[in-house]
Amino acid sequence: MKTANFRSGEMATGDASVKVALVTGASTGIGRQIAGRLARAGYRVFGTSRQPAAESLDGFAMLPLDVTSNESAVACVQTVLAHAGRLDILVNNAGVEFLGAAEEASIEEARWAFETNFFGVMRMTQAVLPHMRARRQGVIVCISSLAGLGGAPFQGIYIATKHALEGYIESLWYEVEPLGVRVALVEPGFFRSEIGQRKRLPARTIPDYAADRARVFARWERLLADSPDPAPVAETVLAICDGRSTRLRHLVGRETRLSRFKLVVPEWLVRRRIRRLFGLEDPPRRRLK
Ligand SMILES: NC(=O)c1ccc[n+]([C@@H]2O[C@H](COP(=O)([O-])OP(=O)(O)OC[C@H]3O[C@@H](n4cnc5c(N)ncnc54)[C@H](OP(=O)(O)O)[C@@H]3O)[C@@H](O)[C@H]2O)c1
Repeated sequence: MKTANFRSGEMATGDASVKVALVTGASTGIGRQIAGRLARAGYRVFGTSRQPAAESLDGFAMLPLDVTSNESAVACVQTVLAHAGRLDILVNNAGVEFLGAAEEASIEEARWAFETNFFGVMRMTQAVLPHMRARRQGVIVCISSLAGLGGAPFQGIYIATKHALEGYIESLWYEVEPLGVRVALVEPGFFRSEIGQRKRLPARTIPDYAADRARVFARWERLLADSPDPAPVAETVLAICDGRSTRLRHLVGRETRLSRFKLVVPEWLVRRRIRRLFGLEDPPRRRLK
């Protein structure tokens, strides 16, 4: 795959006043919207895919990247630096979904989700930080999820990956902020993308969970099918990149009401609201033995 600068055929370092952004997982969904929005706002954008179908897409260059590989992560960042001479913004967007009961997931299946959603972010973050620290500037935006802020049925592994990401990035904030590097988390609710078609399910299922699993999967598919275009997520990322927002956390989407609701109501009411969101009945009250 050739890695020329695809923006107006410029080569090497380009215009020093133009900020350079790298968006992982920009072939579809939320990442594609983010990369396109940043390109329209005047950033020089490199998007990625494990198998780019073309050298460019929606006004941004495409590079090969598999975030589950150390070599691929380092090579991708080096390619951007070789072509643009600098990297101002990393958007860690690439992610995968694993649905199933917490007990059903094998360790290998959980590792598969963590390799992309958590270790992928870690690899890319560590690959760009030496450059950003040296320049005492840079922005790292991570696409987490509302799933990074609380539990929900039959999504435990995906939710665990996003909680790990939240903890890692919040901790990183204390360390790199004094060195001039800003980090931010974006927590979208449901938005239209290809994540539903690409999701993985456990190889082993347990009959006790069958009825609730079927209800939750059906509701999850419907929430995703009815979800809006991810443009608001891209606008939020743009606001972070151009400094209009310097907050750590950014909730986006209609389900974000749930997070605010959590702050003001008792826990049992939150659980009931989440069960209802995913089509589950309240369990029968059991007496303690
Ligand atoms: N859609 C939602 O409702 C929603 C809600 C909250 C959070 N999110 C988060 O938003 C992010 C984007 O997801 P999406 O919904 O837009 O899903 P999507 O349409 O399936 O896009 C996922 C992107 O990640 C890339 N990707 C997957 N595995 C990769 C790997 N190992 N290395 C590099 N790239 C990889 C894919 O690119 P290739 O297959 O071309 O390599 C694709 O471009 C994820 O982090 C997801 O958890 C989504």
